Amino acid sequence: MTPAAGTRLVVMLSGRGSNFAALHAASEKPWFNAHIAGVVSDRPQAAGLALARSHGLDTVSVDRQTHADREDFEASLCAAIDGFEPDYIVLAGFMRVLSADFVQRYAGRMINIHPSLLPAYRGLHTHQRVLEAGDRKHGASVHFVTPTLDGGPVLSQVRIEVKPDDTPDSLAERLLAHEHRLICASVALLARVPVEVRHEDIVIDSLRLASPLVLGRDFDEHGHHTGPGQPGQ
Ligand code: GRF
Repeated sequence: MTPAAGTRLVVMLSGRGSNFAALHAASEKPWFNAHIAGVVSDRPQAAGLALARSHGLDTVSVDRQTHADREDFEASLCAAIDGFEPDYIVLAGFMRVLSADFVQRYAGRMINIHPSLLPAYRGLHTHQRVLEAGDRKHGASVHFVTPTLDGGPVLSQVRIEVKPDDTPDSLAERLLAHEHRLICASVALLARVPVEVRHEDIVIDSLRLASPLVLGRDFDEHGHHTGPGQPGQ
């Protein structure tokens, strides 16, 4: 068997794991240049964890219930993550809020996918809030994780139109397919070019990113920069 090449990823999830599934499918393509070294969940029953096992991936479940306190729980989480020696940690539907110490340990190496056009609609129920506000545009963001919930610097976004007859469920379902494209393209980009986080800035290839890269405009499905929105311009 050929050893898996490229950037090492740990995917963290709490639920169904469709973003994990998209990353796993992408990891079998030559353009991706990254592979999933392990999957970590805080929920032993997470469907995504079972899915990862069915693909033969290494998984670790760190159950909060069996740990005395958050410090103890996060120490186990760190041990699980560090055991896989990841270059990047991808939060893909990981639903637990992490402490500042935990987040700082992985500064610049941990990303999260969030179903809104950040900085709009941090937190939960984003689709419903978009509809209540009467927005015409919605989308998803990939951001670096900092101690501020959904507040870290945004690397990339995908945008979709809101339809007049959309419900929170229809919007969520339609966006999810685009989230899958976004997370795969964003990880492919991270696997290809040196990306640093300096304070609130993202620096790609030594150039400061002026605004999030938009999928289909500034970078493509395989994580290549395209079009006028080059990083640092
Ligand atoms: C996605 O909508 C993601 O944006 C959010 O949680 C959901 C996870 O879905 N952070 P899945 O478990 O990847 O299917």
